[in-house]
Amino acid sequence: MSSTASVPLGLPMERDAGPFDPPRAISRLRDARPVSPLRFPDGHEGRLVTGHEEARQLLADNRFSSRQDLGVLHIPYETPGMPVPTEPSPQVPGLFIAMDPPDHTRLRRKLTGAFTVKRMRSLEAHLADIVERQLDALAHLAPPVDLVKEFALPVPSLVICELLGVPYEDRDTFQANSARFMLKEQPLEEKIAAYGAMTSYLAELVARKRAAPGDDLLSDLARHDDLTAEELTGIAFLLLLAGHETTANLLGLGAFALLENPGQLAALRAEPELMPGAVEELLRYLSVADIFYRYATEDIELGGEIIPEGSTVVVSLLAANRDPRRFDDPDTLDIRRNARGHLSFGHGVHQCLGQQLARIEMRAGFAALLRRFPDLALAVPADQVPLRTDMNIYGVHALPVTWTETAR
Ligand code: HEM
Repeated sequence: MSSTASVPLGLPMERDAGPFDPPRAISRLRDARPVSPLRFPDGHEGRLVTGHEEARQLLADNRFSSRQDLGVLHIPYETPGMPVPTEPSPQVPGLFIAMDPPDHTRLRRKLTGAFTVKRMRSLEAHLADIVERQLDALAHLAPPVDLVKEFALPVPSLVICELLGVPYEDRDTFQANSARFMLKEQPLEEKIAAYGAMTSYLAELVARKRAAPGDDLLSDLARHDDLTAEELTGIAFLLLLAGHETTANLLGLGAFALLENPGQLAALRAEPELMPGAVEELLRYLSVADIFYRYATEDIELGGEIIPEGSTVVVSLLAANRDPRRFDDPDTLDIRRNARGHLSFGHGVHQCLGQQLARIEMRAGFAALLRRFPDLALAVPADQVPLRTDMNIYGVHALPVTWTETAR
């Protein structure tokens, strides 16, 4: 391993190796030095973790604090106007993704009951309904059609709205604000404004649920007297955002990746029982939730390097999931491989709470899409598909598709 790999200024983001692959500079760094220095645009130095084993260790070690971005989900230090961290950030009530134990543990425990495999299974039949209805509507449109707008975004939005008890009619507000919030280069004030707009909407909603609880997850939480209104609002924000942005992008980018890998697509059509493994592989291969931040609360050894106390540590899950030391031929999409051990849902105490739901949504979504549109094809050349390199969650802004036949 060489320590001469150059120190990048800011996180390399350009997808210069293709729409599905990590930026070349990130892959090079991983191969040379899986825990490497990184200079932020404001000049301060942090660390970048790109190796699979190193990322897994980082995520499992609570000395790396999640209180690293003012507690507001995904406001990274590249954001213009963002101050340099000097200590773990103050916590925002309810946003337990950016908390450490024991605060994290207290809030996460209140939710684990709601996200069990059993509860998610019972959602499955209903989910199939949502998917079929959305595809009925799609089949009535004249192609070319944007698959993101008509399918990949509405399905997870409908599901999370239903689960949380958020009126779907309000989606324009929360989808627009969450898009403003997730835009990387958005100045800090803009992000805070979008966050404020979303939380005031959700504060009103949880107040109504407290007054008259219904049959949904937010009402269940509102019944807990020991959660404050601010905590409830923070939890609602986290679930609403995490619950539709990630899955929507995996559906959109996943459809693009399958269309670009016709052999894999044909195998999946021919053998639908490959679907669960294919979804795991798409999770690994695409890693749409790629970049996460931690803060070193003491000097910590990782991958043979000492990370000094106070460092901001950036981890690329995409780079880790493409680590040749963990997966053979990692840059090939292979739906038959055993992709278990990927880090796309994170690892350790913050491991994704919605992962069963996400898996079920993706299996149902891809299965129905492939069945009902047997000759689905891109309607534009692949290099004209607009990529979300400007957003915190990667994916495609739009996916123009076409077809000549539909099936039931
Ligand atoms: C946490 C990815 C879908 C809710 C995480 C983390 C990752 C992740 C990597 C760990 C963050 C960290 O360590 O800092 C994904 C991906 C998804 C997905 C790739 C879809 C393909 C969902 C869904 C929901 C959800 C559908 C909710 C319904 C959450 C929550 C956390 C989380 C609440 C925070 C957990 C904690 O801090 O304890 N997710 N997620 N996610 N995810 Fe997901």
